[in-house]
Amino acid sequence: MATLAELVQERTDIEAPVLAHLQRLVAGWGVLADLCFSDLFLFAPVRGTHERFVVLGQMRPTTNQTLYLDDLVGHVVGPEERPLLPRAFALGSVVEGEVVVPRRSEPARLVCIPVRFEGRLVALLTRESALSVGRRPGVLERVYIEVFDRLARMISSGDYPFPLDEAIPADSPRVGDGVLVLDARARIDFASPNAVNALHRMGVYSGIEGVRLDEAGLQQTAVLRAYQMRLPVAEEIGDGGDTALVFRCVPLLEHGVVTGALVLMRDVSDLRRRDRLLMSKDAAIREVHHRVKNNLQTISSLLRLQARRVPAGEARHALEESERRVRSIAIVHEILSRDTADEVDFNDILPSLVRLAEDLASAEKPIRLSHRGDAGRLQASIATPLAVVITELLQNAAEHAFPPAAPGGRGSPEPLAVQVALERSESALEVTVRDNGIGLPEDFSIDAPTSLGLSIVKGLVEDQMGGTIAMRTDGGAVVELWIPLDHSLDDLTTL
Ligand SMILES: Nc1ncnc2c1ncn2[C@@H]1O[C@H](COP(=O)(O)OP(=O)(O)O)[C@@H](O)[C@H]1O
Ligand SMILES: [Mg+2]
Repeated sequence: MATLAELVQERTDIEAPVLAHLQRLVAGWGVLADLCFSDLFLFAPVRGTHERFVVLGQMRPTTNQTLYLDDLVGHVVGPEERPLLPRAFALGSVVEGEVVVPRRSEPARLVCIPVRFEGRLVALLTRESALSVGRRPGVLERVYIEVFDRLARMISSGDYPFPLDEAIPADSPRVGDGVLVLDARARIDFASPNAVNALHRMGVYSGIEGVRLDEAGLQQTAVLRAYQMRLPVAEEIGDGGDTALVFRCVPLLEHGVVTGALVLMRDVSDLRRRDRLLMSKDAAIREVHHRVKNNLQTISSLLRLQARRVPAGEARHALEESERRVRSIAIVHEILSRDTADEVDFNDILPSLVRLAEDLASAEKPIRLSHRGDAGRLQASIATPLAVVITELLQNAAEHAFPPAAPGGRGSPEPLAVQVALERSESALEVTVRDNGIGLPEDFSIDAPTSLGLSIVKGLVEDQMGGTIAMRTDGGAVVELWIPLDHSLDDLTTL
């Protein structure tokens, strides 16, 4: 569907400042449709004619049934279909009449309101509603329509929309949420039933007709500012407890003088309560990561203590390896506990993993570790297994890449160089761990690992991360991982 700006550009002669005026008009016209219980259309003459009009916008009321089930935006209507449009545009004043609505037996009432910008007639706003036959409108209906008529006069004089780009948020009040109509001195003339309920929740029980909001015990800075600046002002007020109201005060002008105001109000207590809950949920998630990290650190300490009590050999080695695996997971949770997102910047993790591996170096087996590239932010479900995998690979380099010590060898050996390289693309992460050691054993195959370390690595890469692993010898051992980053799988699964 074409936007207002596109339609204006394609079909009309309207220039940019007028377009901005029309955009401001339609930005808040849901309230207008609700106040007059009618469908609204915005028409502008098609370029080069005064007879044919293009529908620039359409708004249905939420306070009444719509007459139009079809989307008419972009349609061009000629004088035969809506003869009133060229007439209203020629006269430049409000014109009333009837219009035939497709698929309806009876005609509808049509009011054409001229839209002016800086004194110039630029478009027509039409209000289209069922003919009300024999039914007397209630008070609320009469008050709303009267406010609409005042706004309609402002539209034809160019005072409405206001020369202000109001950011109207999604939770901004609508007519159904609560309406106050204020007089020229900001006293309450009318309060809709929902407005009365909202005021009750703020502790205002006394009769409010004829009093000002501050006399009723409420803050009225928004109202005062709206009257002073002659511009709409929005504000949220709370009762210091659980209740919160959003106000939007729209001043009503006549010949540049404020003659009253329309105040839309909405009880947003439930919304704010939900916001608070969500906020504390973030804090709770952080706290959980923090506790998981603490527990993992406790486990790794226990393993370390246990390893020290076991005589040097295979069993101690296995306990030490397990301790490092657990610690690498703790590192990820440490980083996760600092952030609300379920994502971590892997650049915060890699240096800690490298430090973990540096502990394996010794005077006889010196290691020079380095890393380059950038993995960026990763989901916890990828970062955690990846941390374990990298730890495992660095550990292997430190353990297996050194040439067997020459019998009676002397002097300090050259340090082993180990590099971790990360390369991220839109959809995948490539990790290469390379050393300049002796390379993989002849009969080595990653496809059928019999030892524990690489079985863990293969399981994590292929099953947990859905990636691939390749290992080869090229001036030392080279391990290449390819890990898909599928953003649709952003869930909370962690190791
Ligand atoms: N960087 C490397 N350089 C040389 N050989 C390696 C390297 N990484 C792994 N290997 C070989 O692969 C074998 C399997 O590794 P792994 O599954 O981690 O078991 P472990 O480390 O307990 O021996 C190692 O015993 C070693 O022979
Ligand atoms: Mg190993």
